[in-house]
Amino acid sequence: MEEWEDFLKVRYPEEQSKGFKAIDPNKKKEQFRNYEADARPSVREFYRLNHHHQTYDFVQAKKKDFLALNRRKMSIWEAMEYLNTLVDDSDPDTDLSQLEHLLQTAEQMRKDGQPRWFILTGLIHDLGKILCLYGEPQWAVVGDTFPVGCAWSDKIVFHQFFKDNPDAQNPKLQTQVGPYSENCGLDNVHMSWGHDEYLYHVVKDYLPTEALYMIRYHSFYPAHREGEYNYLMNDQDRAMFEWVRRFNPYDLYTKNHEKPDVAKLRPFYDELIAEYFPASLRW
Ligand SMILES: [Fe+2]
Repeated sequence: MEEWEDFLKVRYPEEQSKGFKAIDPNKKKEQFRNYEADARPSVREFYRLNHHHQTYDFVQAKKKDFLALNRRKMSIWEAMEYLNTLVDDSDPDTDLSQLEHLLQTAEQMRKDGQPRWFILTGLIHDLGKILCLYGEPQWAVVGDTFPVGCAWSDKIVFHQFFKDNPDAQNPKLQTQVGPYSENCGLDNVHMSWGHDEYLYHVVKDYLPTEALYMIRYHSFYPAHREGEYNYLMNDQDRAMFEWVRRFNPYDLYTKNHEKPDVAKLRPFYDELIAEYFPASLRW
């Protein structure tokens, strides 16, 4: 999991992202391919599995299974503590727990004077990773997300691995719009399955639209960093992606080794959570 995030930082380094444009005409395809060539074997293998197995039917099956939200009933803080039981062996050099990382992201937003709902979104945005604790493989939890059922953008990293995806053999699932229609809006588009979509469904009744976009599309790098799939978006999507872009630097670059003081911060976050969420949610 950490390796995927580290690889994102290699592809989208912090210095270059200051004032980045979603559609960067100067970005060369070769540059992208170099990241692939230099990627660790485990990262390569992660994308190979992801691109092979994330089919249109796979997404429908996972939605049917997980979006009934009948696995657990937990408060937001309980979900944070639950996620905290996840040990990520792929990152031996971080000494921060999942919960500390969430707090660190939120604290950075707070320091920058972001609105309360924005800080709350920072706090919870990765809670969907509890999918790992249900036994889901990493490639079905994290990774760049992309629409399924239509042609894959060639700006999706490791695009070549889609050749082994069974949908590649179905011409109906290979047209530009697939089962969708032009500018139909992303809400009508099925995205590859992972922690973004799952958490969106858990929290969708409780947060402002901007926050929901940040949660649902924060791993949709092909759109928010590469400017792809504009033809599936409607005007609301385009406006709301400004918020997804505003969120992204916090997601990618906040990590440092300064441990947040959980006990000291807890009262502030308890109050913030209670402002938006009921005492228990269905997961
Ligand atoms: Fe995430």
